[in-house]
Amino acid sequence: GHLVAFPTETVYGLGADATNEKAVARIYEVKGRPKDHPLIVHISSMELLDKWASEIPEYAIKLARAFWPGPMTLVLKRSDLAKDFITGGQETVAIRVPYHTLANQLLKEFESIGGYGVAAPSANRFGKVSPTNSQAVEEELGNLLLENDQILDGGQSQIGIESTIIDCIGDIPIVLRPGSVTIELAENLLGQKLGELDSSNRQIKISGSFETHYSPDAQVVLNGITNLGDGFIALEGIPTPPGAIRLGSPKDNDDYARMLYSSLRLADYNGIKTVNVIPPEDQGIGLAVNNRLLKASKG
Ligand code: TXA
Ligand code: MG
Repeated sequence: GHLVAFPTETVYGLGADATNEKAVARIYEVKGRPKDHPLIVHISSMELLDKWASEIPEYAIKLARAFWPGPMTLVLKRSDLAKDFITGGQETVAIRVPYHTLANQLLKEFESIGGYGVAAPSANRFGKVSPTNSQAVEEELGNLLLENDQILDGGQSQIGIESTIIDCIGDIPIVLRPGSVTIELAENLLGQKLGELDSSNRQIKISGSFETHYSPDAQVVLNGITNLGDGFIALEGIPTPPGAIRLGSPKDNDDYARMLYSSLRLADYNGIKTVNVIPPEDQGIGLAVNNRLLKASKG
C-alpha cells in the first residue's frame, strides 16, 4: 500500500502494488502525472506474463525470450487483472521484466507474499529528467514521499535511459519509444521489419511521446553557439568551447546514454541556464539518446 522507489538498469522507478488502486493513485499524485497516462507493470519473470496479458503474439514471446530480463517493455492486450487505473483506460498493458538484481529481488519478494506486479513510472516529476541514482530520486521526490515509503539504493543505473517500448498489438511490432534494445536488434531477431508508428492507426497514449519531456530546468540547445557560462555536453574527443562549463564527456554512445541525465541534472544543480549539447550519431543507442535530447531541447 506504500510507494517504493527502486533501481532498474535503465532508470529508477517509483513503484506501487499494481493491483492496489489507492497506492497507484499516489504514484500519480507524487509524480504530478495526468491520470490517463498508463504505467508499466514490472514482473520478476516471463512466467507471470499470462497474469497480466492475453492473446500474446508469437513475435512478442520471441522478443521476451531474447531481451528479458532487460531494458525492454512490451505493450500487450490486457488481462482482467490490468485495471483502468494501470492502463489509463486502454485495452492494452505495458509489461517489463527488469534485469537489475535489486529490482528482481524486490519483485520476487513481493510475488512471494502474494503480489502480482509492481507498477512504476520513472521516479521523476512529470516531464522532468528521469533519475539514474537514488540521490537523484531523493532530490526529485524526497519531500513528497511519506514515512512508510521507501527509496532503495542500487547504485548508478547502467544503461541510463528508459526502456525500449514495443507495441505488440498488431501483426507487426512497432517501437513506441527507442532504447538500448535497438530496432536493428529486434529486426535481426525476428527476421522482419518493425512497423512505423502511424498516429492515425490507433490512439496510443504514451506520455514520453509528448514533444516536451525529459527536460531539466535549464534550456537545452542542440548544436548551438556556446556562450560564456553555458553548460556543454559532447563526446570526449570534442573540445570544450572557451568559457563553457563541461558537464559531460562520454567515451561512446553507451556512455552517452549512461551519463546524459546526471549531466543535465548537474546543470540545474549548478544553476546553469543553458546547456549546449553536441548529439551523438544515430548508431546503436545513439538513436534513443537523440530521441531524448530532441524532447529535452523542446522544453
Ligand atoms: O525504463 C523504463 O521503462 C522505466 C523503468 C522504471 O522501468 N519506466 C518508465 O516509465 O520509463 P514511464 O511511465 O516514465 O514511461 C513509460 C511509458 C509512458 O510514456 C507511458 O505512456 C507508456 O510507457 N505506456 C505505458 N503503458 C502503455 C500502453 N498500454 N500503451 C502505450 N504506451 C504505454
Ligand atoms: Mg518517465
